[in-house]
Amino acid sequence: MKDSLLNSLEALQQDFQNILPQMTDEIRLQEIKAQFLGKKGRLTEVLKEMGRLSGEERPQVGAKANEVKNFIEGRVDEALQRLKSDSLNKALSQDLFDATLPGRPELRGHIHPVHQTLVMVRNIFEKLGFQTHYGPEIEDDYHNFEALNIPVHHPARDLQDTFYLQGKDWLLRTHTSTVQIHVMENQKPPFRMIAPGTVYRSDSDVTHTPMFHQIEGLWIDQDTSFGDLKGVLSLFVKQMFGSTIEVRFRPSYFPFTEPSAELDMTCLFCRGQAKACPVCKSTGWIEVLGCGMVDPEVFRFVKYDPEKYSGFAFGIGIERLAMLKFGINDLRKFFENDVRFLRQF
Ligand code: PHE
Repeated sequence: MKDSLLNSLEALQQDFQNILPQMTDEIRLQEIKAQFLGKKGRLTEVLKEMGRLSGEERPQVGAKANEVKNFIEGRVDEALQRLKSDSLNKALSQDLFDATLPGRPELRGHIHPVHQTLVMVRNIFEKLGFQTHYGPEIEDDYHNFEALNIPVHHPARDLQDTFYLQGKDWLLRTHTSTVQIHVMENQKPPFRMIAPGTVYRSDSDVTHTPMFHQIEGLWIDQDTSFGDLKGVLSLFVKQMFGSTIEVRFRPSYFPFTEPSAELDMTCLFCRGQAKACPVCKSTGWIEVLGCGMVDPEVFRFVKYDPEKYSGFAFGIGIERLAMLKFGINDLRKFFENDVRFLRQF
């Protein structure tokens, strides 16, 4: 009995060794493993017979059975490892996987070009001693119009332009000039301030969006002159766009400044060549901002003495500046928030 079992174990091991080269894939490997070591496998069959052995014989056969079992398990594990590394090597060579490439970074948010432009403008004016102020986007008629010397029948109040709320008591501010009034109500001169923010006008076409951004500026002191205005704003344009850029001041009209001007700068696209340039319409100049000396009427509203104080104010459209700075030709791109666009800046 004992000898026949030992022979069976011997044969079993031999058969396993013969079949070993067939372990060429994992499925076949599992089949072979089950065939020898499984619940209904050949080793189990032999072990079942051990009950019929005497107490002396049993340990001898048991030792041999363990030896065979360990042998088979060892070969199966080896084969499994080999198959796994083979398939990895194959995948690596087929997929042309380059483990030395840097990882793909996680997609993150991006600072909007309008905000980037705002930060550039703010940095320039902060160096000149301007402090940043903010005001409400929902305003009353007084701060948006009346205190800025915009009379009742002025076309700027037209329903066409202004978004009114609750009848005509409240509105969405149409410009950041409202912040001039808030600051002057709360502060004594001299001071220099800028006020960035969102403004709203009922206007929508290729060059207008109902919401856009401005930066307001105000400098008030005892003898501020138009020369100061020219100096500060020329410096700003040169810092923003380069020292070779020229500026010119063109007479204009705003109810809250007198005299008023618009600042033009050398066209960045044709460099002032003024030949077949669609951006400046071949004038060589591009309009950048509105400005002027604060109208004494405005000082009266905020109870500043117009005999004692003078000042200048300016308003810059940030989208317009961003378009010039980054060479963007369609205003609407700023508001579509397509990351493929935003990521470029
Ligand atoms: N508030 C004016 C506008 O929105 C710009 C401006 C500001 C002009 C300050 C002069 C002085 O067009």
